[in-house]
Amino acid sequence: MGGGIAQVLAASGRQVSLHDAVPGAAENALQSMRRSLDKLAEKGGADAGGVLERVEGVGDLVPADLMIEAVVEDAVVKKDLFRRADDALPPEAILASNTSSIPIASLAAATRRPAQVIGMHFFNPVPVLKLVEVISSDETSDETRAAIVALAEDLGKVPAEARDSPGFVSNRILMPFLNEAAYALEEGVAEAEAIDTIAKLGFAHPMGPLALADLIGLDTCVAIMEVLHEGLGDPKYEPCPLLRQHVAAGRLGRKSGRGFYEYPK
Ligand code: 3HC
Repeated sequence: MGGGIAQVLAASGRQVSLHDAVPGAAENALQSMRRSLDKLAEKGGADAGGVLERVEGVGDLVPADLMIEAVVEDAVVKKDLFRRADDALPPEAILASNTSSIPIASLAAATRRPAQVIGMHFFNPVPVLKLVEVISSDETSDETRAAIVALAEDLGKVPAEARDSPGFVSNRILMPFLNEAAYALEEGVAEAEAIDTIAKLGFAHPMGPLALADLIGLDTCVAIMEVLHEGLGDPKYEPCPLLRQHVAAGRLGRKSGRGFYEYPK
């Protein structure tokens, strides 16, 4: 998602530094951006070359007005990044997280600028989906909130605000739906294709819940459900055993080539 976020920021004319600790990840993101921009250019969107010129891969965190963190859905990794960003970025900079579920207050507590820490939650594929969920903690200032709402609008997105509760609104609604689909599959209620067809044609969803879980990443879905389960204390959020089994087997969805479905290269 980091690449998608970098793309929409660059397409709005902003200069973007893209950093990923995994060697080669930033280059892969640039390739996906090129493919995405080519699709958009076919429909009269911005010229791919011009947008990509504004995205620079960097080997470490660099000074900027805004950081949008989109690392793995792991509170320890995110807090460590916020700690480092607090040192690397100027004191007036905003530190935003694209977290799917982790409380913003816990990330803010890792910094000396809790008033400038906020959730800016995009949706996959970022260049296509219009929503940005904006999550303020009790410490987030009105100025920070207003700046991020205005930025989302400037990117052509529609901001919707939520309070800092585990999974916020989006994943509190979405994850039980995906989890229940996994239970229906595990219990043999229907084949995967039938479950997805029911959601697609019965509820007019663009894709079924199992295909969507594969798009999000089954490891990410499990991580989000664990935050919901632990944070809200209700067993209804516990990840379905089939989801855990797939993750343990390396079946992570599209990114690993196999999840509920197969994705040949
Ligand atoms: N960049 C640019 N354009 C893209 C694109 C990308 N990465 N991916 C798709 N598109 C464009 C296509 O070119 C196409 O444009 P057109 O209609 O003008 O020709 C349009 O989007 C639709 O794409 P496709 O025809 O290839 O395929 P679909 O019609 O099946 O759409 C989809 C694909 C956009 C992924 C659609 O199925 C969809 O919206 N699915 C639901 C996705 C969703 O729910 N995302 C949210 C996940 S939750 C999340 O991200 C939050 C996290 O916290 C878990």
